[in-house]
Amino acid sequence: MTAEYKLHGNVAVISLNNPPVNGLGFETRVGIVNGLEKANADPAVKAIVLTGAGKAFSGGADIREFNSPKAMQEPILLSVIRALENSLKPVVAAVHSVAMGGGLELALGAHYRIAAPGAKIALPEVKLGLIPGAGGTQRLPRVLGVETALNMIVKGDPVNSEVLAGLPGQKLFDQLSTTAESLLDEALALAEKVAAEHANGSPLPLVRNLPCKHPNGDAYFQFARNMVNGMAKNFPAPAKCVDSVEASTKRKFEDGMAFERETFMNLMLTPECKALRHIFQAERAASKIPDVGSDIAPREIKSVGIIGAGTMGGGIGMNFLNAGIPVIMLEMKQEALDRGLAIIRKNYEAQVKKGKLKQDKYDQRMALLTTTLNYDDLKNTDLVIEAVFEDLGVKEAVFKKLDEVMKPGAVLASNTSTLDVDKIAAFTKRPQDVVGMHFFSPANVMKLLEVVRGAKTAKDVLATVMAVAKKIKKTAVVSGVCDGFIGNRMIEQYSRQAGFLLEEGATPQQVDKAIEKFGFAMGPFRMGDMAGNDIGWAIRKRRYQETPDMKYSKTADLLCEMGRYGQKTGAGWYDYVPGKRDAIPSSAVNEMIEKHRKDLGITPRKIGDEEIVQRLVYSLVNEGAHILEDGIASKASDIDVVYLTGYGFPIWRGGPMQYADQTGLFNVAESMKRFARNPMDDASFWQPAPLLQKLVKEGKTFNG
Ligand code: NAI
Repeated sequence: MTAEYKLHGNVAVISLNNPPVNGLGFETRVGIVNGLEKANADPAVKAIVLTGAGKAFSGGADIREFNSPKAMQEPILLSVIRALENSLKPVVAAVHSVAMGGGLELALGAHYRIAAPGAKIALPEVKLGLIPGAGGTQRLPRVLGVETALNMIVKGDPVNSEVLAGLPGQKLFDQLSTTAESLLDEALALAEKVAAEHANGSPLPLVRNLPCKHPNGDAYFQFARNMVNGMAKNFPAPAKCVDSVEASTKRKFEDGMAFERETFMNLMLTPECKALRHIFQAERAASKIPDVGSDIAPREIKSVGIIGAGTMGGGIGMNFLNAGIPVIMLEMKQEALDRGLAIIRKNYEAQVKKGKLKQDKYDQRMALLTTTLNYDDLKNTDLVIEAVFEDLGVKEAVFKKLDEVMKPGAVLASNTSTLDVDKIAAFTKRPQDVVGMHFFSPANVMKLLEVVRGAKTAKDVLATVMAVAKKIKKTAVVSGVCDGFIGNRMIEQYSRQAGFLLEEGATPQQVDKAIEKFGFAMGPFRMGDMAGNDIGWAIRKRRYQETPDMKYSKTADLLCEMGRYGQKTGAGWYDYVPGKRDAIPSSAVNEMIEKHRKDLGITPRKIGDEEIVQRLVYSLVNEGAHILEDGIASKASDIDVVYLTGYGFPIWRGGPMQYADQTGLFNVAESMKRFARNPMDDASFWQPAPLLQKLVKEGKTFNG
């Protein structure tokens, strides 16, 4: 049973006990209802306290029940809340630590509520594309007032119990306990007090019976709607929060409940909700490596060495400083160290100026940073991350030196973006300690970290890196060793398609606009200009040697030959005004593309936005399917996480693999076959990957 029942004198205490956060799964719901029945049947019991064991009152729905029929099995949460309301003996909810979503809705069904200070109170359903579905939108406005409640419901962020308890006229909490430790004692005292007050059979107070009005309802809700539509145009749920809270002021309680339920059920079926729920689970799943269980203890990381204080080294270092972990940075020359240090300082100073970082915090962080030119100074660090030039020879020298000086058991990581981590590991006599940590630029900002698992990487090294990632607030995804790992291997296909589209008749701005309208933060050409077009050029030059049969559009090479590397050279696919980042369509580029088409004898055709989007997105999907087949990613959801956190894929579409699932894999494969018939494109690439074909045949999806 996941709810415990205990007697304290003549008060029954029902404690939810479903670690880690007392999720309201089926067994817990049954436990509460059984506890209520038992207490009501026992003449010795005068009142009931409902609380949570361990780290939470309740975190709400049990995520292990997501997408399972158990979530809808009676007693559903609505029925549990009704049972609370119908209890003949007063129920006091004793809220502590966390009361979120269904947890808060449950507490709102109790007759009285007492909260411990510091408890986090929220209705976060909107973050999963939903509205609260068990009375939250109808009851919270009744206890907090319409505006406070709507703010909480639309934002979904937690608010501290003492803040809410301090609001004038609030009826959410009848009492705040003196301390978190004294909550149960004070709840028991409150239960005895109210039991005595109602001993004469006077009706117990119910939130549903409280009035709910807004003095200027129509104007207020119109204002709220305008605000919400401006902020969350790709997500339907926030506007539905407004509708549902409005219903609490205009309809009878039961009618408002029915409206909330219907709205909730409709939202569940939207692609946006499916995408957000998918992401929620995908991010949790990404941190779990199939063959690295919780029995594998991570190594302790108390200090970090970083080699190379360039673009990446500095940003990587900042992550650790922000987390309070000392960093020592090594370079070849003092000037390089000074330059790197100055950039870190400048970044922090900008944050201080914007008021995002307090001066004393800045000082603390800088005090954790030391620099050196001598490898001996690194030898006692627990983790060292190499971020030197992308050249195997340079990496070889660095790793040989590390092998010589580092203490046994230190984790040796490389931030390489294209080189073979197994080759790098082989430069040492301890390949089991070597791993890839592929950060994204700017490394202090971007959430994604690809953890590259070499053939010999030890399991506890992986566990260590995943734990470190969590500490520095990165979303880590494990990738096997291959050229480009997960993210860049896929983006290469996407860039190839962007090139073919230009040759066939599109302009850079048309391609960018179409994919940005689909929801990408930035189209391929604006992205190229930002990252530097010379990076792709260098990769293609290597490809022309290694895989001469691979087809590329020459337009990107011609662009680089014109010296148009992107923003850093003031010109790329677009023109730039010095000091500004606005992309201005370039006549020089359009002329270059037109001349190139003429040279190849191509008559340009008009290409629709739909074709542009499909070719770009499905190229990611097909390569993603190959990546799964090759075992580079262990699950489709990992690929989605990479694209959502590192490549600006639209959140509300859930990532490329999820988007393909939603579109229907049959349709996706059919489009690929159509693209394969385009003589200007790469027919062999567009053969649907065997995994995709298999899923279509079996009527399955990537994400199951
Ligand atoms: P960078 O050129 O800005 O910095 C490299 C730094 O390493 C320079 O300061 C250089 O003085 C130093 N260095 C070179 N050889 C060294 C040695 N033997 N010992 C000590 N220091 C040495 O390069 P960046 O962009 O920071 O790239 C570093 C690594 O990160 C490369 O492997 C690159 O592929 C990878 N990477 C780069 C990304 C980017 O967007 N720039 C993204 C992800 C990974």
